[in-house]
Amino acid sequence: MNKTIENIVSLCKRRGFVFQSSDIYGGFSAIYDYGPLGVELKNNISKFWWKEMTHIHENIVGLDSGILMHPRIWEASGHINAFNDPLVDCKKCKARYRADEFSEQFSALNWTEIQCPKCGTKGNLTEPRQFNLMFKTHVGPVKETGTEAYLRPETAQGIYVNYQLIQGAMRMKVPFGIAQIGKAFRNEIIARNFIFRTREFEQMEMQYFVKPGTDNQILEEWKEKRLHFYPRYLGINKSKLRFHQHNNSELAHYAKEAWDIEYEFPFGWSEIEGIHNRTDYDLIQHEKFSGKNLSYFDQPNNERFLPYIIETSAGLNRMLLTVLVDAYWEDTENNRVVMKLNPMIAPIKAVICPLTKKDGLPEKAREITSILKSHFKVIYDQQGSIGKRYYRQDEAGTPFGITIDHQSLSDETFTLRYRDTQKQDRLSIDQIISIINKSLSLK
Ligand code: GAP
Repeated sequence: MNKTIENIVSLCKRRGFVFQSSDIYGGFSAIYDYGPLGVELKNNISKFWWKEMTHIHENIVGLDSGILMHPRIWEASGHINAFNDPLVDCKKCKARYRADEFSEQFSALNWTEIQCPKCGTKGNLTEPRQFNLMFKTHVGPVKETGTEAYLRPETAQGIYVNYQLIQGAMRMKVPFGIAQIGKAFRNEIIARNFIFRTREFEQMEMQYFVKPGTDNQILEEWKEKRLHFYPRYLGINKSKLRFHQHNNSELAHYAKEAWDIEYEFPFGWSEIEGIHNRTDYDLIQHEKFSGKNLSYFDQPNNERFLPYIIETSAGLNRMLLTVLVDAYWEDTENNRVVMKLNPMIAPIKAVICPLTKKDGLPEKAREITSILKSHFKVIYDQQGSIGKRYYRQDEAGTPFGITIDHQSLSDETFTLRYRDTQKQDRLSIDQIISIINKSLSLK
């Protein structure tokens, strides 16, 4: 099967999932726009993450904090000093690389001896220099010192600086969590593999505040829960998922222990989500920089402490790419491409097609559409042959097709076609609703 990133990019453009930003101006590097199907799919994925976090767990609540925050937050968090990537330039062809692409131990390399992968020359690569990944902007009408602000590179800090307010308002007892979905921005040196690494993306982060000493056990519990999320809600193939533990050279400045959930993409195993033990690092830093006491009072034990934080941090766009890659299937026997999306997250649940454009079939199909649209996201399609209409929806990942034919007018039965098998059943509208509903519930 040709499950390449190129084929997936082209399907995404063709069917309205994802396109390069600013396309008519030649594109804007590493930024993508989500079309009608992409935005439905993205919303469905984030809806299940939100449900899993804040509905299933009674001790996790939500937050939506600002993208711009007090600039001192980024000093405290260590992002101004430590959120850097090592940048290497080729003086001859101007290509740019992250030094750690050449070797994890890049500081030991002799750069005069290394060939530029693009132009093939030696002796033209610069020594690595640290490049800060945060986007800087100015607040207010004049660009003066003191007006600088940053677009947040992670949503987590918005949770830490609001944690006491939320704990008090909601009377939360440790252990408890705060979940947030929102945009994050990183000026990535190299952005590649479609929406895998982009400069603007969405994170779905949950920060779990725990008593120090319980952190190791709770990290293990979250690792298991997060791994199960992927097959359970998104229908991802379990054999394509694995854990990778960060070694000392990979650990972020705030983490004591970190695990990645990785997926096997066409370009290799790569991180889709991180589960981190951030200890009390962030709260200590914010106490230091804000001068506020951020400790938690444990009433039953009459003690105060700074909670440790277990973080689960997933990229929504990367999760969407995982879903697309996992679902892509070339059905060579029937000469079609099918996105085998789990019906629960499929952008459209069913397409409704009158067999022909005459004899009252479109009117009947419209009637069925208006019944179904109060239950699920469906579309009406009368353009082209029935085979073409179905194949279009196979690429869109639509799990069901409903055809209205002449028999439908006399006996109120319709054909229900199943996307993956192409099998068809003749059923009443109530039976169809019940089958679709069943496919949308958790197994
Ligand atoms: N708060 C911790 C944190 O931000 P991270 O490992 O840097 O940790 C977490 O990022 C997740 O965010 C990653 O697993 C990935 O899914 C997503 N992510 C990070 N950088 C990204 C980028 N440039 N483009 C798309 N997604 C990204």
